[in-house]
Amino acid sequence: MRALVIDRTGGPEELHLTDLPLPVAVSDELLVRVVAAGINPIDAKTRAGSGAAAAIGGYPVVLGNDFSGIVVRAPYDTFPLQPGDAVYGMARTPRIAGTYAEYVTVSSLSVAKKPAAVSHTEAAGIPLAAMTAWGMVTLAQAAPGQRMLVHAGSGGVGHFAVQFARHFGAHVIATGSTASVEFLHRLGAHEVIDYSTTRFDAELRDIDSVIDLIGNVHDQTGTRSLTVLRPGGLLVNAPTGSWPSMQQEAAAAGVRATGYKVPADARVLDAITALIDNGTVRVNIDQVFDLADGAAAHRALEGGHTRGKIVLRVSDAEQDAAGTSDPEAAAAGQAESAA
Ligand SMILES: NC(=O)c1ccc[n+]([C@@H]2O[C@H](COP(=O)([O-])OP(=O)(O)OC[C@H]3O[C@@H](n4cnc5c(N)ncnc54)[C@H](OP(=O)(O)O)[C@@H]3O)[C@@H](O)[C@H]2O)c1
Repeated sequence: MRALVIDRTGGPEELHLTDLPLPVAVSDELLVRVVAAGINPIDAKTRAGSGAAAAIGGYPVVLGNDFSGIVVRAPYDTFPLQPGDAVYGMARTPRIAGTYAEYVTVSSLSVAKKPAAVSHTEAAGIPLAAMTAWGMVTLAQAAPGQRMLVHAGSGGVGHFAVQFARHFGAHVIATGSTASVEFLHRLGAHEVIDYSTTRFDAELRDIDSVIDLIGNVHDQTGTRSLTVLRPGGLLVNAPTGSWPSMQQEAAAAGVRATGYKVPADARVLDAITALIDNGTVRVNIDQVFDLADGAAAHRALEGGHTRGKIVLRVSDAEQDAAGTSDPEAAAAGQAESAA
């Protein structure tokens, strides 16, 4: 199969196309033909040598967690998702090969039916970011009467967090640059703070919770966020590990703080699918790149101003919908007829 790989950690230029053997599905895993692969900051961090790079067991490594595609092989006959079904979900690179490739194997616990309302390209932008947003917003108990501040509300995780928090009835305040203000209002934010002109900590007090997608990576955003929380309020931080003194600072400020790490949970994805299909929540695709242009896609992501998601086009959806034959079985058949 065609795959975009790295042979060592480094810059975006390390990403290159190669041919790899098909991944082998074992146990409860499905083999899925990937139509589109979403890109997430963790992919770029791992490529650069941080992120999940410590788990790299050998090269070449196929990066990518998010996929949308077609089931080629199901784990057993009565499994609800069968060959030919359109699915999406989240893989676990680098423990197993990732989604920047024509095929991926994925645990049955991490794959769900693709929302019918969106294309594979759109669906590939949903899993990791939307499940993270769901987890953070529910951990922070978004509900009517709650005032929730969402930093980076226009990014991959943030644009889902704004919509979920609003859906759960919270009063949503989002931060973004001038260019993102209108987008954030369209997503449903009740208030938008333009971080390029306004210090959010000069404007806000008694916030119940902060969805912190920045931490102290930019402009002490995390530390400044602790000052806007009500006593006992909660900050939920996603760029975990980048703000080592978070707990001590939160305790000193009389508030609570926690990291969050997203599990690849198909039950959550099913709930998100329902909201996508009934039009309550939408995914915004900022840019689409061909698999071969993965380096350019990583550069775009690392620019830090993605509006929603960046997605890689891996293969042709129409071709996949028609041709769902199992390539391993086809290869075995050819070997048999040759024997
Ligand atoms: N722990 C986990 O399980 C987990 C899961 C997912 C993500 N994460 C982490 O969470 C972070 C966000 O991920 P993501 O996918 O949402 O990233 P992303 O899509 O790359 O975020 C880009 C967004 O950040 C906004 N932004 C940049 N600087 C900002 C600032 N100073 N204040 C407010 N907004 C700012 C940009 O808005 P403008 O263009 O308007 O500036 C842009 O829309 C990353 O560090 C990622 O690794 C962790």
